[in-house]
Parts: sequence; structure tokens; C-alpha cells
Amino acid sequence: MQTVSSAFDCAYWQARYTEPGRDGWDAGRSTPPLQAYFNQLAVASQPRILIPGAGRAYEAEYLHCLGFQHVVVADFAPEPLAALRARVPSFPAEHLWQADFFRLAPTQSFDLLVEQTFFSALAPSQRPAYARQCAALLRPGGRLAGVLFDTAFAGATEPPFGGSRAEYRAYFAPYFDFVHFETAYNSLPPRAGRELFICLRKRAGAPLS
Ligand SMILES: C[S@@+](CC[C@H](N)C(=O)[O-])C[C@H]1O[C@@H](n2cnc3c(N)ncnc32)[C@H](O)[C@@H]1O
Repeated sequence: MQTVSSAFDCAYWQARYTEPGRDGWDAGRSTPPLQAYFNQLAVASQPRILIPGAGRAYEAEYLHCLGFQHVVVADFAPEPLAALRARVPSFPAEHLWQADFFRLAPTQSFDLLVEQTFFSALAPSQRPAYARQCAALLRPGGRLAGVLFDTAFAGATEPPFGGSRAEYRAYFAPYFDFVHFETAYNSLPPRAGRELFICLRKRAGAPLS
């Protein structure tokens, strides 16, 4: 377990959900890059999937509808978890974790972690800990897949925070092999050309201690 504090705490995010017009990241649907990735996963293998910083978790809903049964949603703000519960009553309540990602026990048990606008929601100083915690939650060979902003947001003082490929590579290289790390071809129009699709495979023996 790690302690990684930030000004962007649970109260900050709950306010962004409850105050009008402050949830601009919320696409209101699962996005095409993640749908395309999910569509080629084998449902029969029932992978253990974690979506950290999931927000209203449209990706969890999509996976649930495809028949994936081990999808865990983690977010420390209550509003988005309640929104998922209301939208998808059949989603297992025990798979809704109201928790700080950095305090999740490093069980190395997940097959897949899904990333979408969670990394960019963190203070940049938390990025090395994010990469390490992702590795600590995945089994060897498990994957971190999703999208990262491939652009800088000059002068940003609150999320989202952008970045560069070179910067991102440095965070993930200690723990992961890079399977995909390229501009997404199927982003939503407002994000087109500004998203990197990533699929990173955790190396056996990655240095977690
Ligand atoms: C920009 S939103 C993205 C939500 C969702 N992934 C989406 O694309 O709609 C960032 C989310 O991360 C959550 N979050 C931020 N820091 C967190 C932390 N340390 N642990 C758990 N959730 C966190 C916030 O509550 C918020 O729901």
C-alpha cells in the first residue's frame, strides 16, 4: 500500500461531479478505442478487470453487457458509483469499490487494468506512483490498456494534465513491455489525434518492492 496525497482529493472530485458543468471529461458513453479493445477480448476466459478512477464507468457497463463478470470499478468519489448503480442495477454491488486507488492492496491479481482520463486526473507528481501501483495490482503478463492524452495543456493548474510520449515511457518502462503505444485511430471527434492508445504488458519480475 502507498500513501500518495494530492490537492485533487475525494472532496475535489465529488464537487466536480455535483457542481454544474464541471464534468467535461464525461463522454456519456464508452468510447470507441476502449470498445474496440474490449470487443476482441475472450469473454470465455473471464479475466479479472479493474477500472480505476472509473467515474460513471460506461466502460464497466459495456463490459458487463458483453458478459464479463469480473469487472471491478474503483473510484473514491461517491457520485459516479451511485450513477453506475442507478444506470445498471444488475452490476454486482461488491464490484463497486469506493476507494483510493493508491491504497488498494497490491494483490497482483488482475489480468487487465483499464485507463481513461484517470492518469490525466492525477497530479503529475503522482504519475510514477500510478505506474508502480498499476504494476502491483496486475499479475505478471497482465495488461494496462486504454488511452492517454498525447498533448500538453499549457498552464493547467487543475486536471486534466497532459504530457508527452517520452515522459509516459519513462514512468512505465520499469515495469511494462510496450505492446501498443500509438495515436488512437478511433477517438471521439473532440479527442481525435490527441489520444495515445496504450497496451502495456507487465513484465515478470518487475521491481515492485
Ligand atoms: C477525470 S475523471 C475520469 C472518470 C472516467 N474514467 C471517465 O473517463 O469518465 C477522474 C476520476 O478519477 C477519480 N479519482 C481521482 N483520484 C483518485 C484516486 N486516488 N483514487 C480513486 N479515484 C480517484 C475521480 O473521482 C474521478 O472520478
